[in-house]
Amino acid sequence: MNFDPCTYVIFGATGNLSRTKLMPALYHLDVANRLPVGTCIVAIGRRPWDQEKWLSEVREMVMAKTKDDFDESIFKRFCARLVYHQGDIVKPECYSELAALLNNKNKFSHNIAFYLSISPADFGLVMEMLSNNQLFNEDLGWRRVIIEKPFGYDLDSAQALQKRISHYLTEEQIYRIDHYLGKGMVQNVLVFRFANVMLEPLWNRNYIDHIQITHSEEIGIDSRGDYYNGAGAMRDMLQSHLLQLLTLVTMEPPASMEAESLRDEKVKVLKSIRPIPKEAVHGYAFRAQYASGHVQGEKVSGYLQEANIPSNSVTETYASMKLYIDNWRWRGVPMYMRTGKRMAKAQSTISICFRHPPLQFFRDTHVQCMNQNWILLGIQPEECIRIEMTVKEPGLEMKTRTTSLDASFRNDDEKAIDAYEDLLLDVLKGDRSLFLRFDEVEYAWRIVDPILQTWAIERDFIATYPAGSWGPEDSRLFEKSAHFWRSSLTPECK
Ligand code: BG6
Repeated sequence: MNFDPCTYVIFGATGNLSRTKLMPALYHLDVANRLPVGTCIVAIGRRPWDQEKWLSEVREMVMAKTKDDFDESIFKRFCARLVYHQGDIVKPECYSELAALLNNKNKFSHNIAFYLSISPADFGLVMEMLSNNQLFNEDLGWRRVIIEKPFGYDLDSAQALQKRISHYLTEEQIYRIDHYLGKGMVQNVLVFRFANVMLEPLWNRNYIDHIQITHSEEIGIDSRGDYYNGAGAMRDMLQSHLLQLLTLVTMEPPASMEAESLRDEKVKVLKSIRPIPKEAVHGYAFRAQYASGHVQGEKVSGYLQEANIPSNSVTETYASMKLYIDNWRWRGVPMYMRTGKRMAKAQSTISICFRHPPLQFFRDTHVQCMNQNWILLGIQPEECIRIEMTVKEPGLEMKTRTTSLDASFRNDDEKAIDAYEDLLLDVLKGDRSLFLRFDEVEYAWRIVDPILQTWAIERDFIATYPAGSWGPEDSRLFEKSAHFWRSSLTPECK
């Protein structure tokens, strides 16, 4: 498919996201010949760099992510697309100069995508300034704005932000990014569910016992102390990425893959989630903070010893919760979610546990108990779809064991594509299906707000877990004593 060229304008271009994700992703799109001729990338940064310095910085960013694949001739072509625009985003001249630059018809396409990789506190201001300088005017080409999370801090602030930005932009122009939706395995959840007919009859409360979503990280908060301490794991991961994963696993089949159909179904799930009353928060959610410990054999400090963290912080670096979706398909099926920094292993998985089969059939045999069937969806680093089944052990006796059917997503010789490559290309195509509509964000805040409000006033105590462990003891969340966190993608006996 051919698309019109566009100009990407990246605010916060010298920051971490741009270095590690955006610039490498744009380079990879160029390598794959997916950037139309005439597509340019204007980087806005405060640092007093000239064009030459910017190109050398970008070289470093790209090389750090390409390793052996770096191609000098393609990089040269990529460099021809790059422009550094020095400016301070709080100053009006940054925008008037930008407008003058972009109005140079011969160099830049009039389709412009503004990527706001900046503090959310500046979203409103930047949009107002862009609007004042007629940069959202679509007379000559489309104008789109990509906003990174967090979209607001809670329900009220998200609504206030939405109100402010809707003065300047229509919903069609806003691309709220949740980079999890750009991950190949996350998109594969939809294909797995809706392209395999044998799953649909099983995908409901009659056969599924419970669902778990885990995102664990080995890393701590690095240099993000200022942001993280104000956010915590619930806002940083659960309200956004993990709830999105939950909607994909549990939604009804959408009428099509088209943006509005998909988003309608996701919103229906979020709306059906049983609200957690404030007085019951402790039965539904758990928070904890990492203490010092060992990760991959190395001693690491606790959260309170990290840079820019106040010594009395009760910000959670681990959060878990249980939800119920009160609709026909899922009523009564617990949905467990957890996420944490500095845990034993970095991985994201969706684990679906089926009900026990009746055991009468095996009476008078050696089969005492059988493992339940699980479907395991490894999102990262291992990308896999695995169905665990019970089979007879070879031999003269009737004994069983668990084996798994594998439907690998990617062969070893097939390259992994970073989520941002997919999403940046979608902006260019005008495909919003993998971006969030405001009501999705709004309903997600409604779900977690009571928890956040309760935690905000309980400032005396927070549980801890040793860095490098699987997190705190939070089994009080489980509906049944037989439930447990599933951490492994290979058969576990319990
Ligand atoms: C980001 C969070 O949105 O997602 C980070 O702010 C987190 O704290 C990251 O580490 C995880 O993303 P990924 O793609 O590395 O799993």
